[in-house]
Amino acid sequence: RKERTLAMIKPDAVTQIGDIIQMIYSKNLIVTKAKMTKLSWKQAADFYSEHQSKSFFNNLVQFVTSGPMVAMEVMGDEALSTWRKILGPTDSALALKDTPNSLRARFGTDGTKNAAHGSDSLASAARELEFFFPSATGSGPPSTA
Ligand code: CMP
Repeated sequence: RKERTLAMIKPDAVTQIGDIIQMIYSKNLIVTKAKMTKLSWKQAADFYSEHQSKSFFNNLVQFVTSGPMVAMEVMGDEALSTWRKILGPTDSALALKDTPNSLRARFGTDGTKNAAHGSDSLASAARELEFFFPSATGSGPPSTA
């Protein structure tokens, strides 16, 4: 089944974008949109609002606002599960033990600084893609702002 997902490279792994894009294409997925941006605290808190009651929420928002990130729309057969398999476990320290070739093992550090994010469901993917790549409204040409 052909799907779209959000793949987000976090500030700790932005310099590894070349290797990360290679990992995506090597699994027969393609990058159909990409944007580098530094989120404000409010934007990051909104993006991660489902975690707002968690103990790690402030650390998470602090981390993802610490520098630019790269958001990508990744497309292909089973894109959600394929990208999450590329990522490996959420905790990079665990990933290093269990799946040493995974992206989070290679480029992350621990449970918060974990190099990249992937949508966990089709509904999350739709919301997260809309967050970074809002649908055009109106009939004019694309904004250059
Ligand atoms: P991500 O896939 O972006 O989804 C939520 C993020 O919260 C996760 O990656 C980590 O960066 C962070 N996170 C999840 N669980 C924990 C935890 N137990 N402790 C600290 N940070 C966490």
